[in-house]
Amino acid sequence: MGPAPVSVEHTTLNPDAVYLSWEVDGKFFGDGREVALLEYIYARPDLEQLRGDPEKVLQAIDDFARSVRGLINVGLMKGAIVCDIITKHKPAVVLELGGYIGYSAIMFGNAMKKAGGKQYYSVEKSPLFAAVSTSLIDLAGLRDTVRVVVGTGAEGTQRLYDEGLISQADMVFFDHHKPAYTDDLKLCERLGVVGPGTLIVADNMVVPGNPRYLEWVRSSVEKKREMDKGAEGKGNPNLQYRNRSISSWEPSGQEDAMEITECYGIEA
Ligand SMILES: C[S@@+](CC[C@H](N)C(=O)[O-])C[C@H]1O[C@@H](n2cnc3c(N)ncnc32)[C@H](O)[C@@H]1O
Repeated sequence: MGPAPVSVEHTTLNPDAVYLSWEVDGKFFGDGREVALLEYIYARPDLEQLRGDPEKVLQAIDDFARSVRGLINVGLMKGAIVCDIITKHKPAVVLELGGYIGYSAIMFGNAMKKAGGKQYYSVEKSPLFAAVSTSLIDLAGLRDTVRVVVGTGAEGTQRLYDEGLISQADMVFFDHHKPAYTDDLKLCERLGVVGPGTLIVADNMVVPGNPRYLEWVRSSVEKKREMDKGAEGKGNPNLQYRNRSISSWEPSGQEDAMEITECYGIEA
């Protein structure tokens, strides 16, 4: 792995933000709980108050995850950190890989909109989860700001690029298939979706961890040039990165960390 990040920050656990266990009969998601969530939300007596209110929709999702079944969302604790980053960085265009049922897309899309941003793209591999997400984003009143794209991270990014919808993103959020982070980042680098000025937020650096990804973003340009020589999927090793690690908590109550990588230049 490359050098340690330039700064490491810690946050404290908020017990009120902890969800029920994700694991039920050996399953962590995809056992019908996502459709049950949609039914739960649309059966709530306060449904009319949720319409057009992203914060209330997020609270309703949190209620479900605390009282019915745990969900693999980024959650309130890490979510608050990313919202803070969005408020400061003010991205106009955000690309998210791994949308699940739309929790992060609603939370971060809303934060981006409030900070003056234009478009949040949420790529999700499962068409079923993408349908749940689209419905909740619509309920939250964010239909014009957040667009859900069905496909893997690589397929979705390539399609958005080919259709001319995305060139360079101001922020990229990785929260999908952990072994795909590095290859999908390299694709973003090749296409110029990541370039000087882009901020990359990568979740789950501890749970379950991602040493290959950390090695790439924390390595010097010289080392990345070496690493890329024999590699099949090449990135742009000339991009200069500065890293911060923020320790926080999964909604399961487990300690985790996010890697915040700022692309600040290109080395000739
Ligand atoms: C941890 S969840 C995302 C949670 C979401 N970001 C949130 O906080 O609300 C990971 C999601 O990535 C999706 N996924 C898995 N492999 C993927 C891939 N290669 N490309 C895009 N999405 C993928 C899964 O279907 C799942 O919905």
